[in-house]
Amino acid sequence: MADTGENLKSVPREILHGVRVYPNPTEVARAAARLFVDYAWQSISRYGQFFVALSGGNTPRMTYELLASAEFRGQVDWAKVHVFWSDERAVPPDHPDSNYGMARRALLLRVPIPPGNVHRMEAEKANLGRAAHEYEEVLRKYLELDDRGFPRFHLILLGMGADGHTASIFPGTRVTRQTSRWVTTPMVVKLNARRMTLTMPVLDAALRVVFLVVGQDKAETLRAVLEGKAEPPYPAQQVQPRDNGVKLFLVDEAAAALLESGPSQPGDSPREKPAGTIRAKPGRSK
Ligand code: 6PG
Repeated sequence: MADTGENLKSVPREILHGVRVYPNPTEVARAAARLFVDYAWQSISRYGQFFVALSGGNTPRMTYELLASAEFRGQVDWAKVHVFWSDERAVPPDHPDSNYGMARRALLLRVPIPPGNVHRMEAEKANLGRAAHEYEEVLRKYLELDDRGFPRFHLILLGMGADGHTASIFPGTRVTRQTSRWVTTPMVVKLNARRMTLTMPVLDAALRVVFLVVGQDKAETLRAVLEGKAEPPYPAQQVQPRDNGVKLFLVDEAAAALLESGPSQPGDSPREKPAGTIRAKPGRSK
């Protein structure tokens, strides 16, 4: 793929292993779109298909819009892409809060993906628990299992809230300790709402987990997550891909404001060691 001037602009500062810093949210979204394209190519050439889980949130939306743009759309063999979700709000698919609805408007309606390759979480169902079991069956139908028996995505895109939640795994909730289920339906007290979410062991089973984190309001939590010492750990900190899976953070300068450079190490190949505990500027511990 030719490197255009536009691409050169988004060469990141990899200040810490597995943490790539971009000047602004638009460049974070562009980097995520480029990774999506690369990972789709790698997975399709190796496995014949690309199984990706999308998240909700504002940063991913920009990435989806870019993937649907003339610049990126033709770079993915959409017929071989299967789209799933990391989490969903308990609303109908046409509700403005629906993660599926957001991805549909921003991306799926604008690329030639076969409708049968789109596997949404049906979190609007009255029996949410049963809907979670049904989603587990969908995952079982399509995904290979790892050696611990968890479904293995080729890529899971995640966001992180200022409280350290990721997907719909919120700090202090029982789902942070879930070790057997693949999909569950936590009550998020602070939002007074149920959600449906992939569980931690499924996030950890992925070949690649990429966090998109932007904004100053996340700087302190990002520092704590990367230091890895918060106890109990933030959900975003807990995610640790097994079997040499990749864990990457694509962040903007505002979110990285409290981080300090450490020795950078190469690579985002699934065969390389993922980011572990890394240094960060001292600050208030949470
Ligand atoms: C959701 C998400 C959630 C999100 C973070 C960050 O459904 O809300 O999947 O985990 O990714 O809250 O969202 P922002 O990028 O909008 O800050």
